[in-house]
Amino acid sequence: MKPNENPANLILRNGRVIDPARGFDAVASVLIENGKVVEVGANIEIGTERRREFEQIDAGDKWIVPGLIDMHVHLREPGEEYKETISSGTRAAVAGGFTSVACMPNTHPVNDCAAVTQFILKKAADEGVCRVFPVAAISKGLEGRNLSEFGDLRAAGAAAVSDDGRPVEGSLLMRRALEYAKTFDLPVISHCEDLGLSAGGLMNEGRVSTRLGLRGIPRAAEEVMAARDILLAELTGARVHLAHISTAGSVALIREAKKRGIPVTAETAPHYFTLDEELLSTFDPVYKVNPPLRAREDIEAVKAGLRDGTIDVIASDHAPHSTVEKDLEFEYAANGMIGLESSLPLILRLVSDGVLSPAEAIAKVTQNPARILSIPFGALSKGAPADLTLIDPRVKYTIDARKFASKSRNCPFDGMEVQGRAVMTIVDGRVVFTAAD
Ligand code: DOR
Repeated sequence: MKPNENPANLILRNGRVIDPARGFDAVASVLIENGKVVEVGANIEIGTERRREFEQIDAGDKWIVPGLIDMHVHLREPGEEYKETISSGTRAAVAGGFTSVACMPNTHPVNDCAAVTQFILKKAADEGVCRVFPVAAISKGLEGRNLSEFGDLRAAGAAAVSDDGRPVEGSLLMRRALEYAKTFDLPVISHCEDLGLSAGGLMNEGRVSTRLGLRGIPRAAEEVMAARDILLAELTGARVHLAHISTAGSVALIREAKKRGIPVTAETAPHYFTLDEELLSTFDPVYKVNPPLRAREDIEAVKAGLRDGTIDVIASDHAPHSTVEKDLEFEYAANGMIGLESSLPLILRLVSDGVLSPAEAIAKVTQNPARILSIPFGALSKGAPADLTLIDPRVKYTIDARKFASKSRNCPFDGMEVQGRAVMTIVDGRVVFTAAD
């Protein structure tokens, strides 16, 4: 995203403004001038002499929300540009309503040093269309042996650290990572997986895996590590954020930890509250993901965790792969699903199903990820950079992955009937996406 040279002056008129960070939910207009939010209110008047300077956008029947933040995506650049690039991934982000994304370090080379973090930020500045927050590696090369230089990475612009895609296996290394990260106030994002327990597994372990003859991954593979990292957060006082939570047991552990005041936060992805393991009976690799799709009771527990605030964030875990990695026999296919362009309607389904209120749903993709990453976005405060998403919550359509801006097509929601989408995405006062009718 280039520095803001020519931001538009805009007024979004008479939408339902939902800004959870400020507890605001009412019909109002938003005035944007020189790339900043100047005013949010019911009766914004612009003098006749200045009226021509402002583009008027009728937001009637739409929601105006702070620009959405997806704190867990894989942009694949550097190294796997045939799957996604910072350019294509950020175009997918804005088409899905996201104005900020945090990208995981399992690139080639791994983002474990300042040079790679700077490369990502430079590419994002030159070719990206939304804000990009690089997440750097906890361990050099994601190998779980030596810690990366967190101070250098923070100074270069890393927003968090994670070995996502892999767990930090050694408990002592994780303890040191938490202690080290605390001194730089860097959140540590944990991919919870006991590799011994998950070894060779292809799907959730249970009756369905037995019936299909596919090796299972027990829920305990996630829960053992979630429990360990909660205990290490308690020991060190450092913040730990548990990524892509998928099991009822993990939700219970996090709920208990929060009650005890341990500095833990958590996220889940739309596939963990929408899709269940029965889909694996198709043997379609589009449903292969790590952690795996779980059972109905896990889906219900994840929804309950979202409802009571145990799970703070919804993030897509957008994981693009090409047909070379995905269109294989189930056993050999790569793990991962794309999600940037399908997240929002699935989040809105939680609202229509009565799981979350509109403000609670929006908080999980604005205020909460902004707080965890300590980034000054996710709210429509006066003077804040004008990052906004205009949502049509009523429009009904069929998800069509062929139309995606992402380079990859591994979307398990392709063909699904949904309701609600982003119709306009504004970053730093510039309209970067408008939905075609
Ligand atoms: O399914 C997954 N895909 N899970 C991960 O943790 C990593 C991701 C990827 O990088 O493809």
